Amino acid sequence: MYRDVDQMSARECYQAAVAAVIPRPIAWVSTKSRDGVLNLAPYSFFSVASCQPLILSVTQITPRNLKDKDTLTNLEQTGECVVNIVDEACVEIMNASCEGFSPEVDEFKTLGIEEVESIKVAPPGVAMSPVRFECKLQQVIKLSEGAMGGSLMLLQVVAIHSADHCAQDQTIMTNSIKAVGKMGGDSYCNTTQGFDLSRP
Ligand SMILES: Cc1cc2nc3c(=O)[nH]c(=O)nc-3n(C[C@H](O)[C@H](O)[C@H](O)COP(=O)(O)O)c2cc1C
Repeated sequence: MYRDVDQMSARECYQAAVAAVIPRPIAWVSTKSRDGVLNLAPYSFFSVASCQPLILSVTQITPRNLKDKDTLTNLEQTGECVVNIVDEACVEIMNASCEGFSPEVDEFKTLGIEEVESIKVAPPGVAMSPVRFECKLQQVIKLSEGAMGGSLMLLQVVAIHSADHCAQDQTIMTNSIKAVGKMGGDSYCNTTQGFDLSRP
């Protein structure tokens, strides 16, 4: 198959990206609005943008109505969030939190998700998440004004929490996290069937 991107619709570009850029980690982002309403939503266009300073990247894909999602709106209002890592135990409730709740709805309360207080930022983390990154917004880069365009949120990490069973001697143990990854469509994958390959 060969495709010329100039001949592809936004939908087809999206499909190609989510089908082939796999597996993607999931940032389950908690924020608080200016009015104090908590919000929680998953984003799999998620990676590490810098290690010193430690900066995570999360991308909002602009909806058809061109209205920013609550996560970006809240980040622009208050500048703080928590990126919660999603493990096998979190995955169903994480999926439920992607529903398009209106901005006045507190997803933690509505879905019965237990909060845990953060140390350096106002939004709480998700208690059941194995690793939580407290972050401050560094910048938003809007790559396109149109629908399906990307707004890249660069999030500077100010504190890291990990569950006791995921860390040893101040080091996070990858295999203990049991993180899940996003595949194309509605598919997910586990991360416990890895293999090692030493670098030359
Ligand atoms: C696993 C998963 C990953 C998602 N990844 C993204 C993403 O990277 N970017 C995005 O704009 N929406 C993504 N979504 C959809 C958002 O979660 C959804 O639009 C949500 O309602 C946004 O909530 P908010 O308005 O509270 O921020 C994803 C949904 C799921 C279930």
